[in-house]
Amino acid sequence: MKVVLIGYMGSGKTTVGKLLAKDLKFKFIDLDDYIEDNLNEKISTIFQEKGEIYFRRKESELLKEVLNDTGNLVIAVGGGTPCYGTNMDLILKETAFVFYLKLSIASLIERLHNEKEHRPLIAHLKDEDIPEFIGKHIFERGGFYSRAHFTINADNKDAVTVKNEILGLLS
Ligand code: S3P
Repeated sequence: MKVVLIGYMGSGKTTVGKLLAKDLKFKFIDLDDYIEDNLNEKISTIFQEKGEIYFRRKESELLKEVLNDTGNLVIAVGGGTPCYGTNMDLILKETAFVFYLKLSIASLIERLHNEKEHRPLIAHLKDEDIPEFIGKHIFERGGFYSRAHFTINADNKDAVTVKNEILGLLS
């Protein structure tokens, strides 16, 4: 069985995914980490040196590899993973448990403000341009995210609360 967490950067997919995997006694895979291990490079370096299209190609390739794993898994994918190529179709074909961790734009701005440097898509932006970027980006991506089987409103909730909500829906 596979549980897949999707959502925008900073929505807590990795933190919630680790907690969930621990409770379910499933293996946890963070697709970003998997990509970094496979290419032996940080995501920000891959973006800088090889460009986003190269990253997206590798992301799709390695997503397929992870989805082919037959074990019990919790997978946290990257914020953009569901929005490129056939990635979301492949995810939905593989499991009936896709959870979208949804946060308001205001919460995302607050969370991402402090971590700008580690996020290649927003690292180059001036602070005052981040709200508009995130707003537009969420608008573009919303159609992909809303294909998840479950949408969890994660605003003002800590990771344990979000994890427990997901556990409740799985039981
Ligand atoms: C991206 C999100 C990142 C990472 C890459 C691109 C995106 O993952 O895959 O920087 O397009 O939203 P997280 O959502 O885990 O930060």
